[in-house]
Amino acid sequence: MLVPAARRSCGPIFSLIFFGGLFVFLFLEPKDVLPGTISVDIQSPWDIESHTPSPYDETKLALLIENRVQPHLTPLLLHFMAVVPPEWTFMFMGSNDSIAHINKSTPIREYTRNGKLMTRLVPQNMSINNQEELSRTMTNAWFYEQLLPAEWLFIFQTDSIICANSNVSLNYWVENNYTWVGASWGEDTKYGGNGGFSLRRISHLLEVLTHQARYDGEALEDWWLTDRLGHMPGAKMANGTEEKYFSVEKVPYPTPIGYHTGWSGQLLMAQVWQEKSQRDQIFEYCPEIKMMMPLVLEEEAKCEKDIHDSFPS
Ligand SMILES: *[C@@H]1O[C@H](CO)[C@@H](O)[C@H](O)[C@H]1NC(C)=O
Ligand SMILES: *[C@@H]1O[C@H](CO)[C@@H](O)[C@H](O)[C@H]1NC(C)=O
Ligand SMILES: *[C@@H]1O[C@H](CO)[C@@H](O)[C@H](O)[C@H]1NC(C)=O
Ligand SMILES: *[C@@H]1O[C@H](CO)[C@@H](O)[C@H](O)[C@H]1NC(C)=O
Ligand SMILES: *[C@@H]1O[C@H](CO)[C@@H](O)[C@H](O)[C@H]1NC(C)=O
Ligand SMILES: *[C@@H]1O[C@H](CO)[C@@H](O)[C@H](O)[C@H]1NC(C)=O
Repeated sequence: MLVPAARRSCGPIFSLIFFGGLFVFLFLEPKDVLPGTISVDIQSPWDIESHTPSPYDETKLALLIENRVQPHLTPLLLHFMAVVPPEWTFMFMGSNDSIAHINKSTPIREYTRNGKLMTRLVPQNMSINNQEELSRTMTNAWFYEQLLPAEWLFIFQTDSIICANSNVSLNYWVENNYTWVGASWGEDTKYGGNGGFSLRRISHLLEVLTHQARYDGEALEDWWLTDRLGHMPGAKMANGTEEKYFSVEKVPYPTPIGYHTGWSGQLLMAQVWQEKSQRDQIFEYCPEIKMMMPLVLEEEAKCEKDIHDSFPS
């Protein structure tokens, strides 16, 4: 091969780079080099016998429950998987249809293969088709027992979003041992917050649920559970002021970890969404929130009525 004279003297350097690169390629796994990289199970001939420990922490579980096929289901789930700290495991609980729908996606199948994501059918004797049914499921000890050995449960619904620009990690709330952190219901609230984007400590929930049962039609699950957890010795409940740093639904805060829109997205709280300047700030800080809402054109956005009407039910 003809090589220009000036380059010829660089031969040894190129070889060094080439063989160095070959070494990195052959002997180091991407997850050793890049934090958060997923490792797809391709075994090299040399380590068939060795057993790599799972990079995932099964005490931390992020859970999405959705029976309906929705266009944003897969991108939303993948987005959460990218932004929630890398050691978290994920579970998608759904119907045959919604599971088959997400399973069409190549990255979803890869995450399932390498153990990051589990898919489960909603247990046959439980249903989640409306607020009351969901409340029955989420106040049933058996439901949480199915999620063990998870201790930290991050629940998010398809009308919530986690913001990649947030400078606070979900793990902040885990490391500080919170029993329940939800979307703030008011700055003066002593404890309790909306469960549609919430962190829950499973051992504490089980303690409540082995002693008390929710009767059908009682308060919705997040209200019912936090009312009891708030009286339980040893539970650490975030108050409404702290919760606004976690999730915004009703109490405005410019840089939360995420947003929940309330009642399956039909209800946008005026305190957060009414002013154009506030909406602009939200879209700038958390552009991915648009994934779960049809784009609202400027001239349509005369707020409340128009915006409400444009949201999915
Ligand atoms: C889901 O699919 C499985 C296997 O095809 C079937 O046995 C089961 O009855 C289905 N469940 C529902 C709720 O349709
Ligand atoms: C997802 O798709 C793959 C390949 O098409 C298949 O092997 C696997 O069983 C499917 N998983 C579920 C949960 O449907
Ligand atoms: C579903 O079945 C399990 C075990 O069979 C039971 O423990 C649980 O309470 C049931 N859940 C509901 C909501 O009936
Ligand atoms: C995150 O950003 C907010 C707003 O800029 C700031 O007030 C807060 O101190 C920051 N927190 C951390 C942990 O950096
Ligand atoms: C949280 O609990 C763990 C285990 O009990 C303890 O080691 C840690 O100090 C606690 N963290 C805080 C901030 O209280
Ligand atoms: C909420 O908790 C923070 C931190 O513990 C505390 O400083 C604040 O006074 C509390 N606010 C309310 C309304 O209880």
